[in-house]
Amino acid sequence: MPESICYLNGNYLPLDKACVPVLDRGFIFGDGVYEVIPVYAGKPFRLDHHLQRLNNSLNGVYLSNPLDEANWTQILQQIIEHNGDGDQSLYLQVTRGVAKRDHGFPATTEPTVFVMSNPFKPVDTRLLEEGVAAITLEDIRWQYCHIKSIALLPNILLRQQALDADAAEAILIKDNKVTEGAASNVFIVLDGILLTPPKGECLLPGITRDLVVELADQHGVPCQQRDISREELSRAGEIWVTSSTREILPVTRLDGHPVGDGLPGPVWQTLYTIYQDYKDELRRSA
Ligand code: PDD
Repeated sequence: MPESICYLNGNYLPLDKACVPVLDRGFIFGDGVYEVIPVYAGKPFRLDHHLQRLNNSLNGVYLSNPLDEANWTQILQQIIEHNGDGDQSLYLQVTRGVAKRDHGFPATTEPTVFVMSNPFKPVDTRLLEEGVAAITLEDIRWQYCHIKSIALLPNILLRQQALDADAAEAILIKDNKVTEGAASNVFIVLDGILLTPPKGECLLPGITRDLVVELADQHGVPCQQRDISREELSRAGEIWVTSSTREILPVTRLDGHPVGDGLPGPVWQTLYTIYQDYKDELRRSA
């Protein structure tokens, strides 16, 4: 396995040689934001959308973007080239940098910029054939879930609770409404209509989510962005979770009960195929 090369504050180096000081505010406070970007055949997927969301997250935590779009693109391209031709998952993180521990923002600190690449692991075909289990949990997170913050302790605890219940994801409920998954967005099919919660401060505006909505519109699949109640979730004929790493994953058991007939549904099959075609087009593009 070739050595993984990462980027840290201007340098390209082996991942196991990359170090940040213990006073980095990312380590001390979880004071930073991140992105996860899939790369297919050397081409980053929806890069402009990811960089726009990074900008929004940085603005949301009052950090100015340390790099312009051209610089980000160049660094990501270098990391892709250093890490071979296979599909990759890029992780990038910006923290408020190194400073004496104090809750208030430091007056002058250089942000820490880190990028690494991991091999993109395709979702197991068995999971696509059978779907996965999910459980519902109360959304215990904060009120700025639209910011892709590295402070993920609530998400981690929720995901682990799902794993401990032999489920792949926790679907979160706030004020009797579905928000999103612990690390994914949620879609349901109810009475033949594809539904997903509207964007706002209660959920991350997923790049995969937005693409699914776009593709549904383009292909004439009726789709609405509106609140979904707990009761509607339990009546759904299909449930999916979406993310850059899991793409569109069908949920076929919810809280121990089958969803619909307990198998991935026809609307999922349609959108999944359209999504894979969209990816293939990117792979073939110049
Ligand atoms: N997380 N909501 C949350 C809370 C997430 O953490 C993620 C993805 C999504 C889906 O967003 P996107 O489609 O842009 O990947 C929604 C990434 C994959 C992660 O933390 O690893």
